Amino acid sequence: MTDRSYSSPSARPSVAPPSAGVGYTTAAIWLHWTIAALLLAQLALGWIMNEVLPDHTPNQALAESIHISLGLTILILVLARIAIRLTHRPPPLPADMPRWERVLSGAVHFMFYVLMLVMPLSGWALVSLGNHPISFWGLTWPHLPGVNAITGNPAPKATRQALKHFHVYILVWIFVVNWALHVAGALKHQFDGRPVLWRMTWLRPPAPPTGP
Ligand code: HEM
Ligand code: HEM
Repeated sequence: MTDRSYSSPSARPSVAPPSAGVGYTTAAIWLHWTIAALLLAQLALGWIMNEVLPDHTPNQALAESIHISLGLTILILVLARIAIRLTHRPPPLPADMPRWERVLSGAVHFMFYVLMLVMPLSGWALVSLGNHPISFWGLTWPHLPGVNAITGNPAPKATRQALKHFHVYILVWIFVVNWALHVAGALKHQFDGRPVLWRMTWLRPPAPPTGP
């Protein structure tokens, strides 16, 4: 994997080959945009399957089976992403960034990691209630260990409803607010002279002003 972290500002050329080190690692960038796209598709699919398609129809069953397989795929990608994050330090933020912005950006990123884990895990817990088999793109997938031991089997209706509410409503709204803060932050910095957007892309930073 190419390490794109930079060591000093003077090492930043305006036009550089892809291997010249700036920004996040190539794997982190791929995973960031792939997971972001899949999460948005997953939100849309969850909504279509629950709110648009008529209940108990073959189309709804198909949408649900794709939602489950895609959600578990996202979980695997997120675990890979966390492993990369724990073993590669992100590039340092612009030195002149105010403290409150650093704290807010760190909190939003941390919250995203929590959500990226808890959203698929809560969905997995939901389909692990009872004894229904779980299919992962046609393969057998295990139940989330311990769920039936905690809730009882069959789980009380109230427990099922609470878990469903948590998965389809509470987490989704926290995610939407976090996402709005994240995108607003990325765009703000892009235009306030401390651009960070390029760090999460294959682009290079703008060249520093030179000469008189
Ligand atoms: C990875 C992130 C995930 C996101 C963002 C997500 C999002 C959603 C959304 C938005 C809904 C429907 C909301 C509505 O009714 O408007 C939903 C429903 C559902 N999700 Fe997920 N989901 C994810 C992962 C999973 C996983 C991994 C599973 C199972 C293994 C799963 C199982 C379900 C089920 C069974 C429902 C229907 C619940 C019901 O009966 O109402 N989800 N999800
Ligand atoms: C579902 C959507 C998204 C999720 C879950 C997500 C998640 C994340 C996370 C967790 C990080 C922190 C990386 C780290 O330091 O470990 C990050 C960084 C970043 N994201 Fe996103 N992101 C999403 C969408 C977007 C979008 C739409 C944009 C562009 C407007 C964007 C721009 C960035 C940028 C520029 C960074 C790097 C910030 C920095 O240099 O410190 N993200 N994202």
